[in-house]
Amino acid sequence: MKIHVLGSAAGGGFPQWNCNCRNCNDWREGATGAEARTQSSIAVSIDGENWLLVNASPDIRAQILATPALQPARAVRDSGIAAVLLMDSQIDHVTGLIMLRESSAPLSVYCTDRVREDLETGFPIFNILEHYSGVTPNRIDLQTRSFEPAELPGLRIHPVPLLSKAPPYSPHRADPQPGDNIGVLFEDIATGRTAFYAPGLGIIEDHLRPYMERADVLLVDGTCWREDEMAREVGGEKTAAEMGHRVQSGPGGMIEVLADFPDARRILIHINNTNPILNPDSDERRILDEAGLEVAYDGLGIEL
Ligand code: MLT
Ligand code: MN
Ligand code: ZN
Repeated sequence: MKIHVLGSAAGGGFPQWNCNCRNCNDWREGATGAEARTQSSIAVSIDGENWLLVNASPDIRAQILATPALQPARAVRDSGIAAVLLMDSQIDHVTGLIMLRESSAPLSVYCTDRVREDLETGFPIFNILEHYSGVTPNRIDLQTRSFEPAELPGLRIHPVPLLSKAPPYSPHRADPQPGDNIGVLFEDIATGRTAFYAPGLGIIEDHLRPYMERADVLLVDGTCWREDEMAREVGGEKTAAEMGHRVQSGPGGMIEVLADFPDARRILIHINNTNPILNPDSDERRILDEAGLEVAYDGLGIEL
């Protein structure tokens, strides 16, 4: 199995267009070695030719340009993106679908009913795309334990519901249900190798542990270092937990959680521009290094 990290930042990217927090300022001044990052997305393939786009970031155009494997050029109009899988209906994970509207065939999109409903109502991207490429929605049924997308021979997908809220524009924002947000275990059927991906992982429910235990690679929520990071850095009101994200530091934080899975390669992804781990010389980054945790960057390739 091959994984390309297309975008390793949280919503807004790094630096964020209107942000003058410490990290964003330092980046503009070249004051640290922190690298710019685009918004949250990965691509997964077994054969290296047909790719599953996992979340469609607003930055997808730049991400495709930076990833030659996604452009195999087998025909005058062509793409290596064989299908798309959405983990939620958040802006940073779905807006890129609009940028794929030139597709010569309807976009094959795997998502839960809850996500589909959001994309046909509160953020009606699917309806808009009907005027362009069209969309073929493929239902992710959380009762089924796994499925194999026809477009991606050799790949098995195990979806897992995550406790989280739907986005502000969702008609069911006030009524969280399984399917608003999922994590996924990707399995290479031939080799049995696995990767677990959950860029928004607020609460580590017991039903997730077997998936995380089985994973050779864990690519999980690295949004914030501390709960009040947004308040401290940019005067925001929401805590990380309120946004559905588990912080890295402190009791019960992601560093502690990931200590339970020492045999996996453990990588933090979906990093907010306020997070000190973006600076490779920070104390926080040293703590991660000592804990054996990696920080994802755009262009990171994983082979397993
Ligand atoms: C999140 O991960 O919390 C959302 O994507 C935030 C956003 O982009 O507005
Ligand atoms: Mn996000
Ligand atoms: Zn910032």
